[in-house]
Amino acid sequence: MSSIITSDFLVIGSGIAGLSFALKVADHGKVNVISKQVASETNTSYAQGGIASVTENSDKFDAHIQDTLVAGAGLCHQDALELAVKDAPNRIRDLIDWGVNFTKNDDGSFDLAREGGHSMHRILHAKDMTGAEIQRALLKNAQKHPNIEIYEHHLAIDLITEHHVLGNLQSAFNICFGAYVLCEKDQCVIPFQSSYTILATGGASKVFLHSTNPDIATGDGVAMAYRAGVRIANMEFVQFHPTSLYNPGKRSFLISEALRGFGGKLINGAEERFMLRYDERAELAPRDIVARGIDAEMKKRREDCVYLDMRHLDSKEVKRRFPNIFKFCKESINIDISLDPIPVVPAAHYFCGGIMTSLTGQTSMQNLFAVGEAAHTGLHGANRLASNSLIEGLVFGNNAAQKVIRKRARNFGSVIIPEWDESGIVDEKEWVLTRHNLKEIQSIMWDYVGIVRSKKQLERARRRIHVIYQEIEDYYKKSKISGELVELRNLAAIAFLIITSALRRNESRGLHYMTDYPEKSDKYLKDTII
Ligand code: FAD
Ligand code: SIN
Repeated sequence: MSSIITSDFLVIGSGIAGLSFALKVADHGKVNVISKQVASETNTSYAQGGIASVTENSDKFDAHIQDTLVAGAGLCHQDALELAVKDAPNRIRDLIDWGVNFTKNDDGSFDLAREGGHSMHRILHAKDMTGAEIQRALLKNAQKHPNIEIYEHHLAIDLITEHHVLGNLQSAFNICFGAYVLCEKDQCVIPFQSSYTILATGGASKVFLHSTNPDIATGDGVAMAYRAGVRIANMEFVQFHPTSLYNPGKRSFLISEALRGFGGKLINGAEERFMLRYDERAELAPRDIVARGIDAEMKKRREDCVYLDMRHLDSKEVKRRFPNIFKFCKESINIDISLDPIPVVPAAHYFCGGIMTSLTGQTSMQNLFAVGEAAHTGLHGANRLASNSLIEGLVFGNNAAQKVIRKRARNFGSVIIPEWDESGIVDEKEWVLTRHNLKEIQSIMWDYVGIVRSKKQLERARRRIHVIYQEIEDYYKKSKISGELVELRNLAAIAFLIITSALRRNESRGLHYMTDYPEKSDKYLKDTII
C-alpha cells in the first residue's frame, strides 16, 4: 500500500504555467508539483523566440490585440484576448522579479524582436534560449520555497474523481480529488489527494511523426481530463511550425521564427524566394500560411525540404543573436547558419485547443483547473500568434492562482481514496506488439491529419485509430502499469480527439485546412467542443 500524499494544491507539470502558478499560491498553502521527468524537461525549456508583450510607448495594446485576432481567424475569445494582452506587462514584471534576464540593448532598453504576424517589434527574449532562462529562474524560486515540494519522475495516470472515492460524500458530483501518480523509481502508484488539482501538462505534438517538441509532449492532461468527462475544445487546431531543422532520423530542432523576423528569407532548391507567391507578407505571414506555403512548394517541386537563407545579413550579428541555433547547426549538420542556407521543414509544434477553461482556469469539473498549453482559454482562436504561448501560461496561471487564493475549496465530506489496483500482468510479447502502435499512430496522424486535410483522409485515419485505440485499451486493462503504456494510451486518445474535432469542422480556418472545403464558413464561427 502506498500511502496517500496530501496538499492544498496539486500541480501536474513543471513548465512555465505550473511553476508560475505554484509560486503564486505557495504562501497560501502546501503545493505539490509533480513532473514526469526531471523538472526542467518541459516544452518551456526549449522555447527560443521569446515572449510577446507591449512594453514600449510606440507599441499599443490594440495593435497586439489586432495581430492576435488576425492570426486567430475569427475564433479568438475577446475577453481572453484583452486579458492576456493587457495583463502581459505585469506578468513580465513577475518574471523579472523572479530573476529572468532578458536581452537588453546598450541603453538598457529591451532588445525587442519581431516574429510572423506581429506588426511591431514586441518580443522579449534571452538571446535564442528564452525558455531555458525562464525555466531556470522559475525552478530556482520554486526549489527554495518552503511550501513547494517537487516530485520528479512522477507521472500522473488519471484524475481521482467521485467515481473512485468511497465515503459519505455530500451530494458530490463532477469533482476532482487529485490524481493517481506512478512513481518511476519504486514502480508504485501513489494517490495524491488535494483540495485543488491543476493540470499544467503542456502540449501533445508527439502524436505526430515530426514534431519540434521534446518527448514529454504526449497530451496526458488533456487525455486524463477527457476520460474524466471534462470538456475539451478545438483540438483540430494543431500548429505546424514552418521551420524545424531538416535532419532526417535525428532529434528535431527548431529554427526560430525570430530568424525570419531578423530578415531570413525562405528559398527553394532552385534558390528562388517563393513565399511572396503565397502571401504578400511573405516570410512574416502567420504560421499557418507559411507552413502551407512551404508544404505546397515542397510538393510542387518534389523536394524534401526548403531553405532559410541568412547569407545576406550581417554574419557577426546573426551569430551574436542566435548562438544556440548557430552551435546546434554547426555540430549536428556542420553548416554555418550565417554562410549556408539552413534546410528546414514544417513540424507539429503547438496545440491551440485543449481543456476548456474560464478566464480563471476553471474547467468543467469542480476543483480542477487547467493552465498553459494543456488549456483552451480562447486566446489563440484558430491559430496562435508567435510568442503568445509563454505569456498565456503566465497570465492565466496567475488568474487561476488569484481565484483559488480567494476561494477555499468546498469540503464534500470525508472521502476514502482507494488504492490503485496493481494486479495486472506483464506480457512482454504482447507489449512489443502494442508498443508498435506508437509509430503507427504518429505516421497516420502525419500522413492523414497534417497541414492539409481532406474528409477522405480524416475518415481513413479515424477507422485506423479506432482499431489501435481499442487494442491499447484492451492491453491496458489487463496489464501492469508503466509510463510508456500510459503515454501511448494518452496519445491514442489525443489522436481520436483531433480527428473527431477535425471531422466536425467542414471549412478551412486558421490551422485547419480542408481541401474539400477551402473557404471559411460563418456556420463554423464557433468552438468545437467534446
Ligand atoms: P510545458 O512547459 O510543456 O510543461 C509541461 C510539464 O508537464 C512538464 O513538466 C511535463 O513533464 C509535465 N507533464 C506532462 N504530463 C505529465 C504527467 N502525466 N504527469 C506528470 N507530469 C506531466 N512559445 C512562445 O510563446 N514563445 C516561444 O519562443 C516558443 N518557442 C518554442 C520552441 C519550441 C521548440 C517549442 C517546443 C515550443 C515553443 N513555444 C514557444 C511554445 C511554448 O514553449 C509552450 O507552449 C509552453 O512552454 C507550454 O508551457 P506549459 O507550462 O503549458 O507546458
Ligand atoms: C519560435 O521561436 O519560432 C517559436 C516561437 C513560438 O512558438 O511562439
